[in-house]
Amino acid sequence: MRERVLVTGGMGFIGSNFVRYMLRNHPETEIIVLDKLTYAGNPANLADLEDMFDFVRGDVADSSVVDPLVERCDSIVHFAAETHVDRSIAHAGDFVKTDIYGTFTLLEAARKYGVDRFVHISTDEVYGEAVDHPSLETDELAPKSPYAASKAGADRLVFSYFATYGIPAVISRCANNYGPYQYPEKLIPLFVTNALEGKKLPVYGHGRNIRDWIHVEDHCSAIDAMLQSDGYNGETFNVSANEEKNVLEIADIILKTLGLSDELIEHVADRPGHVMRHAVDATKLQNTYDWKPSHDFENSMRRTIKWYANNPEWWRPIRSGEFRRYYEKQYTRM
Ligand code: NAD
Ligand code: TYD
Repeated sequence: MRERVLVTGGMGFIGSNFVRYMLRNHPETEIIVLDKLTYAGNPANLADLEDMFDFVRGDVADSSVVDPLVERCDSIVHFAAETHVDRSIAHAGDFVKTDIYGTFTLLEAARKYGVDRFVHISTDEVYGEAVDHPSLETDELAPKSPYAASKAGADRLVFSYFATYGIPAVISRCANNYGPYQYPEKLIPLFVTNALEGKKLPVYGHGRNIRDWIHVEDHCSAIDAMLQSDGYNGETFNVSANEEKNVLEIADIILKTLGLSDELIEHVADRPGHVMRHAVDATKLQNTYDWKPSHDFENSMRRTIKWYANNPEWWRPIRSGEFRRYYEKQYTRM
């Protein structure tokens, strides 16, 4: 078992679900969360568990914060990033700074102080379009958004620190996650919370763009497998539950689950550089770690939709703050 794990970005959507997963499945492991608390970082995500881990507020791109934390830790799971494609189209610089320079800062600290394991959370978006097959780890990287390109830079920087300095790193490239505590700028929580407020669901373009959906806990169990194992250093693993759905199909499930009419669907201007299909093949992960997803899509989606419906005290304060200004700017240009 890993003894003391530094989780960067642990107050965000996947990071907070991962901290929850680790405290439940590996209570002997000490967790230190490093998070800048950007608009997407939310201490409410882990408020019920706040006595069970250490929290440091700080920037992953600041070596004066990062170095002493890495010195104290045995392993690192690196989630911290700017993550929303639409925001990267408006402000690419923040993505370059955090996603690339932040990863560099962490890698330099790992080189200086040594770590047993460095699990880097990359994304399937680094492949760009999955034209005629779900992307394989050996496929070329052809990212289309500044977000995806920044993640691709970080992903290959991690590999270079393995190849050059022997940092024991593994890289996870996961498909689109869904589940509780996702910031409501992303498709599923945006559409659910809009629907709950009687607002339109803004579908970009024709809405037949495909994403490969996985429950966040299945992503967490895959990361755990990579964290607990030794070996496979420098390797990349796709993570997927093989659930390809387009945006209109997602909107349909949400509206049916909430008993609402499809008149709420509104087609709006398309996203520039909009990827038609993201999907990955996770055979390598399944064969290497004997991992498989345990959440079936239909039931887990319905549970997720109900989680947002039952927890307005979590998303209402978010939607009335920074999010409202973002939403007005993003969706009035349509
Ligand atoms: P998120 O936006 O919900 O959370 C990001 C977290 O990082 C926030 O808590 C934020 O405060 C923190 N952060 C941002 N900049 C920081 C900085 N400079 N220093 C320290 N902390 C900082 O994102 P998420 O959806 O939880 O994604 C987590 C990771 O998983 C990201 O690396 C993302 O690229 C990757 N990923 C996400 C998905 C998905 O579907 N959401 C899929 C595959 C991979
Ligand atoms: P998103 O949640 O931003 O994730 P990704 O990083 O995969 O782009 O978007 C998922 C899909 O939903 C993508 O095809 C864009 C589409 N989408 C809309 O149609 N309307 C919206 O308001 C949003 C946020 C996304």
